[in-house]
Amino acid sequence: MPERSSDFDKALRAFIKRVYDNMGGMVVSAMIYLGYHLGLYRALEHAGPVTSEDLARATGLHERWVREWLRGQAAAGLLDHTGDERFSLSPIAALVLANEKSPAFSAGAFAALPAQMNVLEDLLTSFRTGIGLPYDAFGPQGAKGVEGMLAPWFRTMLVPLVLPRLEGVSAKLDAGAKAADMGCGTGVALVEMARAFPRSTFHGYDISRHALEEAERNRRQAALENLTFHDAREDGLPGDASFDLITAFDCIHDMTHPAEALGAMRRSIKPDGTCLIVDINAKPTFEENVAGNPMAAMMYGFSVLSCMSSGLSHPEGAGLGTLGFSEPVARRMTREAGFTRFLRHDFDNPVNAYYEVRP
Ligand SMILES: C[S@@+](CC[C@H](N)C(=O)[O-])C[C@H]1O[C@@H](n2cnc3c(N)ncnc32)[C@H](O)[C@@H]1O
Repeated sequence: MPERSSDFDKALRAFIKRVYDNMGGMVVSAMIYLGYHLGLYRALEHAGPVTSEDLARATGLHERWVREWLRGQAAAGLLDHTGDERFSLSPIAALVLANEKSPAFSAGAFAALPAQMNVLEDLLTSFRTGIGLPYDAFGPQGAKGVEGMLAPWFRTMLVPLVLPRLEGVSAKLDAGAKAADMGCGTGVALVEMARAFPRSTFHGYDISRHALEEAERNRRQAALENLTFHDAREDGLPGDASFDLITAFDCIHDMTHPAEALGAMRRSIKPDGTCLIVDINAKPTFEENVAGNPMAAMMYGFSVLSCMSSGLSHPEGAGLGTLGFSEPVARRMTREAGFTRFLRHDFDNPVNAYYEVRP
């Protein structure tokens, strides 16, 4: 066997570390899931440096388990170890992991982790057959996971920041207008809008039973009467040019038939209405996505786990995938659907692109 150079060994070790760093990410993600669902971050938020005994007492959990979790979280750099086996959540970490009202809150994004891992066996089959899994394959947890990822943005940005930038839209909604959200998921965007504009009526369309059930729960909890959800499989957008506003948040790239969905939006919007399409801020080529997007690996992974999989859950599915609805694709597809005006907005959000599209 030829002697291996030390450069080779160094490169080999570095590559093994790169591979195991991914396992580290997976396991720390699992710990974030536990911390969120067990209320550990919330208990740490205003507690100052605590011992595992303090935290176990505050949460009613077993001390030995809490101790191991605290040590792991500190080793991952998510908690601060202040010495003496005391741990604390910094104010910045609290905004991301504990405070559900913060726009930076991200712990909810881990809510679907078990369901996402659970579909791996089925995806072995998908790679062989080409047929992916619809959103409902993740069960109710899937809808909650999407909500966890996107709701902080809807709750803090949509009504105060985004809608006012769309020409005339907030004024119409104030006066009383008709609006729809395509691929509404658990309906958080609609709840925010329906609450802010009580004179308007809002309609949510989705094909996920679990998302629609959760949406209806969210509507009831908010006690809103101007909001209705529709199962788009039987009761889709009516195509009657009756809507002043139609939104679509992070869903066109998931659809098996995105061209048809855009066509239905075009037929359903009033001649002077506005569509807001928010989708992943994808670049036209793989090279640009990898060079410009530090989350590209995660996004291609999510594509296989859910977005492309959902888009291929029908034999003729388009399967655009998480990074498949870039601006040139959005311009072409909206033009082909019959829209003539396309304006991109910038809200300093590295993840999403905002397209104001009109007939
Ligand atoms: C990533 S989720 C986004 C959900 C929601 N817009 C949000 O931002 O929280 C994509 C959603 O699109 C829905 N969807 C996929 N194909 C659809 C279709 N043809 N019509 C309506 N909804 C669809 C899925 O069921 C899923 O709820």
